[in-house]
Amino acid sequence: MGNINLDSIFVTEEEIPEAYRLAGELHQREYLSNGEMRKWDGAVHTVLSPVCIRTAEGLQRKVIGTYPLCTEKESFEALDAAVKAYDNGRGEWPTMSVADRINCVDKFTQRIIQKKDEVVKLLMWEIGKSHADSVKEFDRTVEYIYATIDALKDLDRQSSKFSIEQGIVAQIRRSPLGVVLCMGPFNYPLNETFTTLIPALIMGNTMLFKPPKHGTLLHYPLLEAFRDCFPKGVVNTIYGRGNKIIPGLMQSGKVNVLTLIGSSKVANELKKLHPKINRLRAILGLDAKNAAIITSNADIKLAVQETVLGSLSFNGQRCTALKIVFVHRSLADVFLKELAEAVAKLKIGMPWVEGVALTPLPEPHKPAYLKECIEDAIEHGAAVINENGGMIKESFVYPAIVYPVNKDMKLYEEEQFGPVIPVVPFDSLEEPIEYLIESTHGQQVSIFSNDDQEIAALIDPLVNQVSRVNINCQCQRGPDVFPFTGRKDSAEGTLSVVDALRSFSIRSLVATKLNEQNKALLNEIVESNSSNFLSTKFLF
Ligand code: G3H
Repeated sequence: MGNINLDSIFVTEEEIPEAYRLAGELHQREYLSNGEMRKWDGAVHTVLSPVCIRTAEGLQRKVIGTYPLCTEKESFEALDAAVKAYDNGRGEWPTMSVADRINCVDKFTQRIIQKKDEVVKLLMWEIGKSHADSVKEFDRTVEYIYATIDALKDLDRQSSKFSIEQGIVAQIRRSPLGVVLCMGPFNYPLNETFTTLIPALIMGNTMLFKPPKHGTLLHYPLLEAFRDCFPKGVVNTIYGRGNKIIPGLMQSGKVNVLTLIGSSKVANELKKLHPKINRLRAILGLDAKNAAIITSNADIKLAVQETVLGSLSFNGQRCTALKIVFVHRSLADVFLKELAEAVAKLKIGMPWVEGVALTPLPEPHKPAYLKECIEDAIEHGAAVINENGGMIKESFVYPAIVYPVNKDMKLYEEEQFGPVIPVVPFDSLEEPIEYLIESTHGQQVSIFSNDDQEIAALIDPLVNQVSRVNINCQCQRGPDVFPFTGRKDSAEGTLSVVDALRSFSIRSLVATKLNEQNKALLNEIVESNSSNFLSTKFLF
């Protein structure tokens, strides 16, 4: 491809295609708390896009808008609202029938579908995700909600009966846990937030929801739907600096579930603040450094194709991204050559460019951090082997393939979460296995080989190191019905459409000795429809 000139990657205001322009700056001056959109006239945070605009004064990050920087006072008010709406499990929402809760979520989904275009555009501008991927994120979220509704119906059908064991009759159902504090990540600010928020909500919990640091404004168009579709205080938002407004919530001891997709460091610090850790349930998606192992029996073409997808989709900013590649020394040269060629073919540009694969990065410090990682690797004996690799223009970083990476380099252990592909040569398969054993992460791995015996010999040790072993394909979360979890510092709890419903609830049962008097009592309760829990009503 030759040398590229990144100067022309950003465009002038006039060159932004009409269809993708924002209607204007979005200045959010309200937030949802205790069933109402509360006005805010305090401090605000200015949201700058990773997309820069070419101006006479040089490149400038586009201002998208502002959002409230609320204080502890507002977050405690939101907490009080959530506690009140839960009302020790006696609130309208936690005692509502499953059918009625499903109706609320269904209504909510129909409302947010109407906001699709607005949300998609904000996804593009706030986090630099391509238009195609932003649409995919929205659609995947809606599909996830409908799949959750179906899974809950199934669960409820299985629970709509009595069990009789050893002379005891019981009805077993899943009940909510209380107040859930939900925080999503910037890379899937809508999807991954909703894959915890929706299951937690539909199971009867009440919510405190803090939008991610990048990808905040895109939640604004959805707040009225939350307000209108759920009882007062069931969904409350908190805006502000996480380190100012979250610790106090945890210290209050009133948060029953912490669900966060982010770093293990933050999760550990927050958990420790809870005065009674045994009362806190944590559902966490955390750090990962998924490895690809390309053995001497791999199909190189396939390995290259999947490595590009795995390490560079959304610029490598996926928790499931391939963040280190082990390649058998005998194939290293040809693999690197083909990988460099494949990377050179990727289209770079702005999120609206059709077929674009690489876009600007939303985290302001990320380009400097990636540069530091690359320089550190070079200092320790590696090189950037692809043309233009590591070139930076403001928020845009051209992908770098770094080889040969070894133990002494940051890139060996740190989760780069960006467009850098560290490649490590190996002679024995014991080397990548040892790497995974010693790693503090344990999410997934990808093995590339066409030798069945070799694959089998890798599967058995690796399934006990990570939670998903992918054969001849990249790592990924989907399909969303599959369990998504990790070992070590990579996760706590399991998410999938069905598992999430379990994670955000606990089994409760009503039991009695099976005698004539109790039989009559149970029958009367069921026939009179007087309990939502003790009921044999079948959800169609
Ligand atoms: O950021 C982590 C996401 O869970 C990854 O999901 O594998 O579908 O991109 P994905």
